[in-house]
Amino acid sequence: MSSPNFSSSDKNRVLIFDTTLRDGEQCPGATMTFEEKLEVADFLDEMGVDIIEAGFPIASDGDFEAVTAIAKRIKNATVCGLSRAGAKDIDRAGEAVKHAKRPRIHTFISTSPVHMKYKLQKEPDAVLQMVIDQVTRARNLVADVEWSAEDATRTDHDFLCRTVEAAIKAGATTINLPDTVGYSTPDEYRAMFEMVRNRVPNADKAIFSVHCHNDLGMAVANTIAGLMGGARQIECTINGIGERAGNAALEEIVMAIKTRNDVFPFETGIETTMLNRASKLVSAATSFPVQYNKAIVGRNAFAHESGIHQDGMLKNNQTYEIMLPESVGVSKTSLVMGKHSGRNAFKDKLKGLGYDLGENQLEDAFVRFKALADRKKHIYDEDIEALVDENIATREDRVKVLNLLVVAGTNGPQSAVLTLDIDGQHHTRQSTGNGPVDATFNAIQAMIPHAAKLELYQVHAVTEGTDAQAEVSVRLAGEDGRLVTGRAADPDTMVASAKAYIVALNKLTAHRGVTGEGARLHAHHGAA
Ligand code: KIV
Ligand code: ZN
Repeated sequence: MSSPNFSSSDKNRVLIFDTTLRDGEQCPGATMTFEEKLEVADFLDEMGVDIIEAGFPIASDGDFEAVTAIAKRIKNATVCGLSRAGAKDIDRAGEAVKHAKRPRIHTFISTSPVHMKYKLQKEPDAVLQMVIDQVTRARNLVADVEWSAEDATRTDHDFLCRTVEAAIKAGATTINLPDTVGYSTPDEYRAMFEMVRNRVPNADKAIFSVHCHNDLGMAVANTIAGLMGGARQIECTINGIGERAGNAALEEIVMAIKTRNDVFPFETGIETTMLNRASKLVSAATSFPVQYNKAIVGRNAFAHESGIHQDGMLKNNQTYEIMLPESVGVSKTSLVMGKHSGRNAFKDKLKGLGYDLGENQLEDAFVRFKALADRKKHIYDEDIEALVDENIATREDRVKVLNLLVVAGTNGPQSAVLTLDIDGQHHTRQSTGNGPVDATFNAIQAMIPHAAKLELYQVHAVTEGTDAQAEVSVRLAGEDGRLVTGRAADPDTMVASAKAYIVALNKLTAHRGVTGEGARLHAHHGAA
């Protein structure tokens, strides 16, 4: 293997390029709201991500606005916008990232025979000219230009080398060779990087990048093989979200490098103790649950259930643990809080979970914690996180859930009697529905008529046991197409559902302003 394209001082430092907000957000059902994207971007920056791909500015006005806002606020990372080969695409990406401290345009075109013939309907020579034109145009807007050969792993090697050489000559500073369809194997992927870097005469003028999809479950293995072949930038997403089966998971790659540094002698700038929170943040923002047995960040990743394993762990944790849970931000003990815990212990717990709340927020959260502890025997870290996250989201709300009584069971119709506080006034309604959730949502609609459409309703148990808190996510689409997500947790699934719906409605009103046409939350007066 030839040596990588780095000076000796940093030859093993690999750049982490996170595309959660672009390739991740692109997958069906993972849409994030504007505010959620900003929150995720801030977190990635704090965690030490080197490049944040913030979106695809030409795709929609929403994407453009999000990339622009992220470019303006990010302190350390390079902020990147994606574009196809067309002039309009490139200019729009340039416009969106121009305020960033470190702006990058990432421009791509397909190079494989199947993509060129059927998707682009262009001959290879025409594509080669487009590569030169797209990189040249992007380079006139920013100094940092990444060029991707889409479907590189199914591209003819001679043609791939010609396009890479032309892209570097036109000014590309990073060359990405994606396994777009997740078809490659680790040996093949590594060999492709070695081949291109050996054959392309100006290869040392660019950083090579890996970008792997997980269709055959090999995205992380391929990513690391690409590094062994000389790549020094990794494109990945939190929780591995992305098109189809997803992208390579950031947390898995980073921890594989850290844990097996004897065989993968690389370094990243990621603060690994933030990985668990990053996973939770992205899962909450996208409403994509993380599978329980997911490596590194799954709920069971550090849980030892069988007697033999527990016995081994008690004798020495190295028997069954190859990483310390604390190294990815999972606290060892998860069952320490209860109704006898005081304010200081609660504050300390929050600090350990990474929250830094102001006095008022802390007091609110503490009151809610006590109320929960009265109803629930064991309070897990996840319960506290759910409670605080909900508290942060709802402290400014105009509408609050006061009371809910639901009649459910086999002898329908199910009904709900709901009391809301709307701008300080109490309103009560009874409604029926096709199931208790429908009845509850109908009661909300009766008191607050609105045209928002329910796009997603999702429930999951925050912890184990029949007294576990239910965490409900509700996504509403406003009349203008704007998406908002409401989340709430409660041991009662119906109460969590009503609260989550109201959180989302409050957000919709806040976005539009309270005086705009059709913007008001109209309280519909009159009792049931
Ligand atoms: O998978 C892929 O090829 C991509 C490119 C746009 C880089 O996402
Ligand atoms: Zn991709």
